[in-house]
Amino acid sequence: MDGTFGFHLPTRVEVGNGRLGETGKLAVALVGSTTSGGRRTSPAAGGSSPRALVVTDAGLIRAGIAPAVEDSLRQAGFVCERFDQVQPNPKDVDCNAGGEIARHFGADLIVAVGGGSVIDEAKAIAVLTTHPGRIGDYEGRGRVPGEVPPIVAVPTTAGTGSEVTRSAVITDTGRRFKMTVKDIKLAPKLAVVDPETTYALPVGLTASTGMDALVHAVEAYTCRAANPVSDAMALAAIARIYPALRRVVRDGHDKEARYDMMVGSLMAGIAFSHSDVGAVHCLAEALGGLYDVPHGVANSMFFPAVTAFNAPAAPERHARVAATCRLPLGGLTPSEAAGLLVEELARLATDIGIPKFGSLPQVRPEDFPFLAESSFRNGSTPDNCRDIAVSDYLRLLKESYQDSR
Ligand SMILES: [Fe+2]
Repeated sequence: MDGTFGFHLPTRVEVGNGRLGETGKLAVALVGSTTSGGRRTSPAAGGSSPRALVVTDAGLIRAGIAPAVEDSLRQAGFVCERFDQVQPNPKDVDCNAGGEIARHFGADLIVAVGGGSVIDEAKAIAVLTTHPGRIGDYEGRGRVPGEVPPIVAVPTTAGTGSEVTRSAVITDTGRRFKMTVKDIKLAPKLAVVDPETTYALPVGLTASTGMDALVHAVEAYTCRAANPVSDAMALAAIARIYPALRRVVRDGHDKEARYDMMVGSLMAGIAFSHSDVGAVHCLAEALGGLYDVPHGVANSMFFPAVTAFNAPAAPERHARVAATCRLPLGGLTPSEAAGLLVEELARLATDIGIPKFGSLPQVRPEDFPFLAESSFRNGSTPDNCRDIAVSDYLRLLKESYQDSR
C-alpha cells in the first residue's frame, strides 16, 4: 500500500426493515431527463410513463418479493416488465436475451430484485440496453463506452455486496469461464437494502451467501489493493458478520442477526469494490465457471487453505482479522493468531453446513490444471496479498480436495 487512493461511492443506499415498498418512490428521482433514450420525462414532470424492467427469479416471484417491488414501481408511475431468466452463476446467454428484451421494451430503468446472480445479470442487461452486441464484448475494466440506464438494486441475500459494486461476474458458457465486466457505469444508482427480504431465505443459501460476505471483507482487508477507507469498511463488516453468521443459520428469523448480516454484507461490498478480492475468489470463480458450484459454497471451501497460504505474507493483517472476530488471542504472535483464524474458518464452514470440496460429485482431479490456469487468469490474482503462481493454485486445489475426501 503506497498511501494513494480514491474513493467514489456512486450508489445512494437506503437501509431499513420494510423499506422494500419505498423502491418506486425512491426510483422516480432517477428517471426523467437522464433516461436512456432521452425521450421520456418523469410522471411528475407531466411526461409519458417511464419504463422499468424488473430482473428477478422464480423464487422471488413465488415469495412475493418481486411483485411487491413491482407494485411500488407502478404506484410511483412506472410501466413494468419482468425478466426472470436468471440462473446461479449468471450466464452470458441469459444476459444477451435480457438485453434484447430491455431494448425492445425501451427500458429507462433496470431494477434488480434478488441475490448476486440477479444483480450481476441486471447490470449486464443495462449495458446491452444502450449498447449493441453481446455481454462478452464488454469484458474487462472500463470497456463500456456510453451511458447505461440507471440500475436499482434490491438485494435479497446477505450476500453479494453487488448492490454497491461496479462489477458484473458473468459465466461465459462457451469458455466455461467467469468473466468480469467492470465499469463505474455499472454501479447501481440506488440500493434499497431491506433485511426483511432475507427472513425466508433457505438455510443453505443463508450460510453460503453469508460466508461470501465474510470472504469479501477478509480479502478486501488483506489484499494488496486495500486502502484506509476500505480497511475501515472491511473491519466493521467482519465485526458484524462473524458473530451473526451462526445465529442466522440457526434461526432465520433472528431479526438482529439478519440486520447485522445485511449491513455487514453491504459494508463488505463497499470495501472490496474500493479494494479487491484475492485468491479465494479466483478459485471460486474458476470452480463456478466449470462446475456451476454456487459462489458462496465455492468460496467457503477454499477460504481456510488460502488464508493459511496467504498469512505468512501479511501476518499482522490476518491477526487483526482474528482479533476483530474476537478469537481468544491472549499471548499469541501474529502468525499464531493467523493460524487460529484458519482453524476457526474451517470450523465455521462445518458448523453452518457448507459441503466439502472433495464431496462434490462433479469435481474431477484431471480438471485441476484447467482450474488452476483459470484462477491465475482472474483479474484479482495480482492483488492477492502473496504472490501466487499457477503451481500454487494447483497445490491448493489438490490439498483442499485430498483433505476433504
Ligand atoms: Fe463473492
